[in-house]
Amino acid sequence: MLGLGPMGRALAGALLAADHPVTVWNRTPGRDADLLAHGARSAVSPAAAVADAPLVLLCVRDQTAARSVLDAAGQVLRGRTVVNATSLAPDDARANAADAEARGLRLLDAAILTPTATIGTPGATILVSGDPEAHAAHGATLRALGTVHHVGSDPGRAAAFDAALLDLFWTTVHGYVHALALARAEGIRGAELAPYAQGLPLLLPPLIEDFARRADDRHHPGDRSSVASAEAGLAHVAHTARSRGLDTSVLDAALALTRRAVTAGHGPEGVSSLVELLAG
Ligand SMILES: NC(=O)c1ccc[n+]([C@@H]2O[C@H](COP(=O)([O-])OP(=O)(O)OC[C@H]3O[C@@H](n4cnc5c(N)ncnc54)[C@H](OP(=O)(O)O)[C@@H]3O)[C@@H](O)[C@H]2O)c1
Repeated sequence: MLGLGPMGRALAGALLAADHPVTVWNRTPGRDADLLAHGARSAVSPAAAVADAPLVLLCVRDQTAARSVLDAAGQVLRGRTVVNATSLAPDDARANAADAEARGLRLLDAAILTPTATIGTPGATILVSGDPEAHAAHGATLRALGTVHHVGSDPGRAAAFDAALLDLFWTTVHGYVHALALARAEGIRGAELAPYAQGLPLLLPPLIEDFARRADDRHHPGDRSSVASAEAGLAHVAHTARSRGLDTSVLDAALALTRRAVTAGHGPEGVSSLVELLAG
Protein backbone atom coordinates (compact mmCIF):
# COMPACT_ATOMS: atom_id res chain seq x y z
CA MET A 1 0.00 0.00 0.00
CA LEU A 2 1.65 3.20 -1.21
CA GLY A 3 0.22 6.32 0.44
CA LEU A 4 -1.13 6.47 3.97
CA GLY A 5 -3.44 9.46 4.01
CA PRO A 6 -6.89 8.82 5.53
CA MET A 7 -7.96 6.77 2.50
CA GLY A 8 -4.71 4.81 2.15
CA ARG A 9 -4.86 3.89 5.85
CA ALA A 10 -8.49 2.77 5.46
CA LEU A 11 -7.61 0.61 2.43
CA ALA A 12 -4.62 -0.97 4.18
CA GLY A 13 -6.73 -1.56 7.30
CA ALA A 14 -9.41 -3.36 5.27
CA LEU A 15 -6.82 -5.62 3.64
CA LEU A 16 -5.31 -6.46 7.04
CA ALA A 17 -8.77 -7.18 8.45
CA ALA A 18 -9.25 -9.64 5.58
CA ASP A 19 -5.96 -11.36 6.55
CA HIS A 20 -3.94 -10.18 3.55
CA PRO A 21 -0.26 -9.57 4.24
CA VAL A 22 0.30 -5.83 3.72
CA THR A 23 3.47 -3.78 3.36
CA VAL A 24 3.00 -0.04 3.68
CA TRP A 25 4.96 3.03 2.64
CA ASN A 26 4.23 6.72 3.00
CA ARG A 27 6.30 9.76 1.96
CA THR A 28 6.16 11.17 5.49
CA PRO A 29 7.10 8.51 8.05
CA GLY A 30 5.05 7.83 11.16
CA ARG A 31 1.56 7.49 9.67
CA ASP A 32 1.59 3.69 9.96
CA ALA A 33 1.63 3.06 13.73
CA ASP A 34 -1.91 1.71 13.89
CA LEU A 35 -1.39 -0.48 10.79
CA LEU A 36 1.87 -1.90 12.17
CA ALA A 37 0.03 -2.76 15.38
CA HIS A 38 -2.41 -4.76 13.22
CA GLY A 39 0.35 -6.72 11.48
CA ALA A 40 1.44 -4.53 8.54
CA ARG A 41 5.11 -4.35 7.58
CA SER A 42 6.73 -0.99 6.99
CA ALA A 43 8.97 -0.18 4.01
CA VAL A 44 11.44 2.66 3.67
CA SER A 45 10.78 3.36 -0.03
CA PRO A 46 8.16 2.63 -2.72
CA ALA A 47 10.60 0.20 -4.36
CA ALA A 48 11.12 -1.70 -1.10
CA ALA A 49 7.36 -1.77 -0.42
CA VAL A 50 6.44 -3.38 -3.75
CA ALA A 51 9.39 -5.81 -3.89
CA ASP A 52 7.34 -8.83 -2.74
CA ALA A 53 3.88 -7.63 -3.76
CA PRO A 54 1.94 -9.14 -6.67
CA LEU A 55 -0.67 -6.42 -6.13
CA VAL A 56 0.20 -2.79 -5.39
CA LEU A 57 -2.37 -0.24 -4.25
CA LEU A 58 -1.53 3.43 -4.72
CA CYS A 59 -3.58 6.15 -3.05
CA VAL A 60 -2.04 9.61 -2.84
CA ARG A 61 -3.26 13.20 -3.24
CA ASP A 62 -3.31 13.65 -7.02
CA GLN A 63 -1.84 12.74 -10.39
CA THR A 64 1.47 14.54 -9.77
CA ALA A 65 1.97 12.63 -6.51
CA ALA A 66 0.93 9.33 -8.12
CA ARG A 67 3.42 9.73 -10.95
CA SER A 68 6.24 10.61 -8.59
CA VAL A 69 5.56 7.50 -6.44
CA LEU A 70 5.32 5.23 -9.50
CA ASP A 71 8.59 6.70 -10.82
CA ALA A 72 10.24 6.17 -7.43
CA ALA A 73 9.17 2.51 -7.43
CA GLY A 74 10.82 2.21 -10.85
CA GLN A 75 11.65 -1.09 -12.50
CA VAL A 76 10.68 -3.16 -9.44
CA LEU A 77 7.07 -2.77 -10.60
CA ARG A 78 7.69 -4.71 -13.83
CA GLY A 79 5.31 -7.68 -14.06
CA ARG A 80 3.11 -6.50 -11.20
CA THR A 81 -0.41 -5.12 -11.10
CA VAL A 82 -0.92 -1.63 -9.70
CA VAL A 83 -4.37 -0.37 -8.70
CA ASN A 84 -4.23 3.40 -8.63
CA ALA A 85 -6.95 4.63 -6.27
CA THR A 86 -5.78 8.24 -6.50
CA SER A 87 -8.51 10.60 -7.77
CA LEU A 88 -7.49 11.94 -11.16
CA ALA A 89 -8.80 13.03 -14.56
CA PRO A 90 -9.82 10.34 -17.10
CA ASP A 91 -7.08 11.35 -19.55
CA ASP A 92 -4.47 11.08 -16.78
CA ALA A 93 -5.67 7.53 -16.04
CA ARG A 94 -5.34 6.69 -19.75
CA ALA A 95 -1.84 8.20 -19.93
CA ASN A 96 -0.79 6.31 -16.79
CA ALA A 97 -2.02 3.01 -18.26
CA ALA A 98 -0.15 3.60 -21.54
CA ASP A 99 3.00 4.46 -19.62
CA ALA A 100 2.58 1.41 -17.38
CA GLU A 101 2.21 -0.87 -20.39
CA ALA A 102 5.43 0.54 -21.84
CA ARG A 103 7.13 -0.21 -18.50
CA GLY A 104 5.84 -3.78 -18.36
CA LEU A 105 3.32 -3.50 -15.54
CA ARG A 106 -0.45 -3.70 -15.50
CA LEU A 107 -2.30 -0.69 -14.17
CA LEU A 108 -5.94 -0.56 -13.14
CA ASP A 109 -7.52 2.74 -12.23
CA ALA A 110 -9.91 2.84 -9.28
CA ALA A 111 -12.38 5.54 -8.32
CA ILE A 112 -13.54 5.38 -4.71
CA LEU A 113 -17.01 6.87 -4.54
CA THR A 114 -17.60 6.65 -0.79
CA PRO A 115 -15.82 7.98 2.34
CA THR A 116 -13.16 6.25 4.43
CA ALA A 117 -15.65 4.98 7.03
CA THR A 118 -17.25 2.70 4.42
CA ILE A 119 -14.01 1.02 3.35
CA GLY A 120 -13.97 -2.67 4.16
CA THR A 121 -17.78 -2.85 4.18
CA PRO A 122 -20.27 -3.54 1.37
CA GLY A 123 -21.21 0.15 1.63
CA ALA A 124 -17.93 1.14 -0.04
CA THR A 125 -18.42 1.61 -3.77
CA ILE A 126 -15.29 1.34 -5.85
CA LEU A 127 -15.22 1.52 -9.65
CA VAL A 128 -12.29 -0.07 -11.44
CA SER A 129 -11.36 0.22 -15.11
CA GLY A 130 -8.59 -1.13 -17.30
CA ASP A 131 -7.25 -4.56 -18.23
CA PRO A 132 -10.10 -7.05 -17.47
CA GLU A 133 -7.61 -9.90 -16.94
CA ALA A 134 -5.75 -7.95 -14.26
CA HIS A 135 -9.06 -7.24 -12.58
CA ALA A 136 -10.12 -10.89 -12.75
CA ALA A 137 -6.78 -11.96 -11.26
CA HIS A 138 -7.09 -9.64 -8.25
CA GLY A 139 -10.86 -9.20 -7.94
CA ALA A 140 -11.06 -11.40 -4.84
CA THR A 141 -8.45 -9.28 -3.02
CA LEU A 142 -10.10 -6.04 -4.07
CA ARG A 143 -13.45 -7.23 -2.74
CA ALA A 144 -11.98 -6.94 0.78
CA LEU A 145 -12.17 -3.17 0.21
CA GLY A 146 -15.90 -2.99 -0.55
CA THR A 147 -18.28 -3.42 -3.46
CA VAL A 148 -16.11 -3.31 -6.57
CA HIS A 149 -17.46 -2.82 -10.10
CA HIS A 150 -15.29 -3.22 -13.18
CA VAL A 151 -16.72 -0.59 -15.54
CA GLY A 152 -14.72 -1.28 -18.69
CA SER A 153 -11.36 -1.87 -20.29
CA ASP A 154 -10.86 1.84 -21.11
CA PRO A 155 -8.52 2.81 -18.23
CA GLY A 156 -10.13 6.26 -18.00
CA ARG A 157 -13.68 5.01 -17.53
CA ALA A 158 -13.68 4.75 -13.72
CA ALA A 159 -12.28 8.30 -13.49
CA ALA A 160 -14.91 9.48 -15.98
CA PHE A 161 -17.72 8.09 -13.78
CA ASP A 162 -16.01 9.73 -10.80
CA ALA A 163 -15.78 13.13 -12.55
CA ALA A 164 -19.46 13.05 -13.53
CA LEU A 165 -20.54 12.04 -10.02
CA LEU A 166 -18.28 14.64 -8.38
CA ASP A 167 -19.81 17.21 -10.75
CA LEU A 168 -23.18 16.29 -9.25
CA PHE A 169 -21.82 16.21 -5.69
CA TRP A 170 -20.00 19.54 -5.76
CA THR A 171 -22.76 21.49 -7.52
CA THR A 172 -25.17 20.05 -4.94
CA VAL A 173 -22.88 21.06 -2.05
CA HIS A 174 -22.50 24.56 -3.53
CA GLY A 175 -26.27 24.77 -3.85
CA TYR A 176 -26.69 23.86 -0.20
CA VAL A 177 -24.12 26.32 1.18
CA HIS A 178 -25.72 29.03 -0.96
CA ALA A 179 -29.16 28.10 0.37
CA LEU A 180 -27.83 28.35 3.95
CA ALA A 181 -26.42 31.81 3.20
CA LEU A 182 -29.70 32.95 1.62
CA ALA A 183 -31.69 31.56 4.55
CA ARG A 184 -29.40 33.36 7.04
CA ALA A 185 -29.84 36.64 5.10
CA GLU A 186 -33.61 36.18 5.53
CA GLY A 187 -33.25 35.49 9.27
CA ILE A 188 -33.70 31.72 9.02
CA ARG A 189 -31.23 29.59 10.98
CA GLY A 190 -29.56 26.57 9.42
CA ALA A 191 -31.26 24.30 11.95
CA GLU A 192 -34.65 25.66 10.87
CA LEU A 193 -33.95 25.10 7.18
CA ALA A 194 -32.33 21.66 7.56
CA PRO A 195 -35.50 19.58 8.13
CA TYR A 196 -36.97 20.91 4.87
CA ALA A 197 -33.64 20.54 3.04
CA GLN A 198 -33.58 16.90 4.19
CA GLY A 199 -36.72 16.33 2.14
CA LEU A 200 -35.13 17.41 -1.15
CA PRO A 201 -32.90 14.34 -1.72
CA LEU A 202 -36.02 12.17 -1.37
CA LEU A 203 -37.34 13.76 -4.56
CA LEU A 204 -34.20 12.89 -6.49
CA PRO A 205 -34.33 9.09 -7.16
CA PRO A 206 -37.26 9.23 -9.64
CA LEU A 207 -35.84 12.41 -11.20
CA ILE A 208 -32.40 10.78 -11.60
CA GLU A 209 -33.95 7.79 -13.43
CA ASP A 210 -36.25 9.96 -15.53
CA PHE A 211 -33.58 12.48 -16.60
CA ALA A 212 -31.11 9.68 -17.40
CA ARG A 213 -33.64 8.00 -19.71
CA ARG A 214 -34.51 11.31 -21.38
CA ALA A 215 -30.82 12.18 -21.86
CA ASP A 216 -30.11 8.77 -23.42
CA ASP A 217 -33.18 9.05 -25.69
CA ARG A 218 -32.47 12.75 -26.41
CA HIS A 219 -36.18 13.28 -25.89
CA HIS A 220 -37.27 15.86 -23.31
CA PRO A 221 -41.03 16.36 -23.13
CA GLY A 222 -42.10 19.26 -20.93
CA ASP A 223 -44.95 17.28 -19.39
CA ARG A 224 -43.88 17.68 -15.75
CA SER A 225 -41.59 20.71 -15.75
CA SER A 226 -40.45 23.13 -18.39
CA VAL A 227 -37.33 25.17 -19.04
CA ALA A 228 -39.46 28.33 -19.16
CA SER A 229 -40.84 27.59 -15.69
CA ALA A 230 -37.33 26.83 -14.37
CA GLU A 231 -36.16 30.20 -15.72
CA ALA A 232 -38.86 32.02 -13.77
CA GLY A 233 -38.02 30.08 -10.58
CA LEU A 234 -34.30 30.68 -10.86
CA ALA A 235 -34.84 34.37 -11.66
CA HIS A 236 -36.67 35.08 -8.42
CA VAL A 237 -34.16 33.13 -6.32
CA ALA A 238 -31.27 35.04 -7.94
CA HIS A 239 -33.16 38.32 -7.42
CA THR A 240 -33.73 37.52 -3.73
CA ALA A 241 -30.08 36.55 -3.21
CA ARG A 242 -28.82 39.68 -5.02
CA SER A 243 -31.14 41.94 -3.04
CA ARG A 244 -29.57 40.56 0.16
CA GLY A 245 -26.05 41.27 -1.13
CA LEU A 246 -25.12 37.60 -1.62
CA ASP A 247 -22.72 36.31 -4.25
CA THR A 248 -25.01 35.05 -7.01
CA SER A 249 -22.39 33.68 -9.41
CA VAL A 250 -23.61 30.06 -9.19
CA LEU A 251 -27.25 31.06 -9.63
CA ASP A 252 -26.36 33.49 -12.43
CA ALA A 253 -24.58 30.71 -14.32
CA ALA A 254 -27.62 28.42 -14.02
CA LEU A 255 -29.96 31.26 -14.98
CA ALA A 256 -27.83 32.24 -18.01
CA LEU A 257 -27.88 28.66 -19.31
CA THR A 258 -31.63 28.38 -18.80
CA ARG A 259 -32.23 31.72 -20.54
CA ARG A 260 -30.05 30.60 -23.45
CA ALA A 261 -32.27 27.53 -23.79
CA VAL A 262 -35.45 29.64 -23.75
CA THR A 263 -33.98 31.99 -26.38
CA ALA A 264 -33.12 28.99 -28.54
CA GLY A 265 -36.78 27.92 -28.42
CA HIS A 266 -36.52 25.16 -25.77
CA GLY A 267 -38.76 26.90 -23.21
CA PRO A 268 -41.62 24.36 -23.52
CA GLU A 269 -39.28 21.35 -23.20
CA GLY A 270 -38.40 19.51 -20.00
CA VAL A 271 -35.50 20.74 -17.85
CA SER A 272 -33.47 17.66 -18.81
CA SER A 273 -33.17 19.22 -22.31
CA LEU A 274 -30.42 21.48 -20.85
CA VAL A 275 -28.14 18.44 -21.29
CA GLU A 276 -28.31 18.98 -25.05
CA LEU A 277 -27.26 22.62 -24.70
CA LEU A 278 -24.40 21.76 -22.34
CA ALA A 279 -23.14 18.81 -24.35
CA GLY A 280 -23.25 20.80 -27.60
N1 LIG B 1 -10.73 10.64 2.07
C1 LIG B 1 -11.79 10.25 1.40
O1 LIG B 1 -12.89 10.08 1.95
C2 LIG B 1 -11.67 9.95 -0.09
C3 LIG B 1 -12.79 9.46 -0.79
C4 LIG B 1 -12.67 9.14 -2.13
C5 LIG B 1 -11.47 9.34 -2.77
N2 LIG B 1 -10.39 9.83 -2.09
C6 LIG B 1 -9.15 10.04 -2.82
O2 LIG B 1 -8.09 9.28 -2.25
C7 LIG B 1 -6.85 9.97 -2.45
C8 LIG B 1 -6.13 10.09 -1.12
O3 LIG B 1 -6.97 10.84 -0.26
P1 LIG B 1 -6.71 10.92 1.30
O4 LIG B 1 -8.03 11.16 1.94
O5 LIG B 1 -5.92 9.77 1.77
O6 LIG B 1 -5.85 12.25 1.56
P2 LIG B 1 -5.02 13.26 0.65
O7 LIG B 1 -4.73 14.37 1.55
O8 LIG B 1 -5.73 13.57 -0.62
O9 LIG B 1 -3.68 12.44 0.30
C9 LIG B 1 -2.74 12.24 1.31
C10 LIG B 1 -1.71 11.27 0.84
O10 LIG B 1 -1.05 11.76 -0.36
C11 LIG B 1 0.36 11.75 -0.10
N3 LIG B 1 1.04 12.72 -0.95
C12 LIG B 1 0.65 13.98 -1.23
N4 LIG B 1 1.53 14.56 -2.08
C13 LIG B 1 2.50 13.62 -2.33
C14 LIG B 1 3.67 13.60 -3.14
N5 LIG B 1 4.01 14.65 -3.88
N6 LIG B 1 4.40 12.47 -3.16
C15 LIG B 1 4.06 11.38 -2.43
N7 LIG B 1 2.95 11.33 -1.65
C16 LIG B 1 2.17 12.44 -1.61
C17 LIG B 1 0.45 12.07 1.36
O11 LIG B 1 1.73 11.80 1.85
P3 LIG B 1 2.26 12.63 3.15
O12 LIG B 1 1.64 11.95 4.33
O13 LIG B 1 3.72 12.47 3.06
O14 LIG B 1 1.81 14.06 2.97
C18 LIG B 1 -0.62 11.11 1.88
O15 LIG B 1 -0.18 9.78 1.85
C19 LIG B 1 -7.17 11.34 -3.07
O16 LIG B 1 -6.96 11.29 -4.47
C20 LIG B 1 -8.65 11.49 -2.74
O17 LIG B 1 -9.33 12.32 -3.69
C21 LIG B 1 -10.47 10.13 -0.76
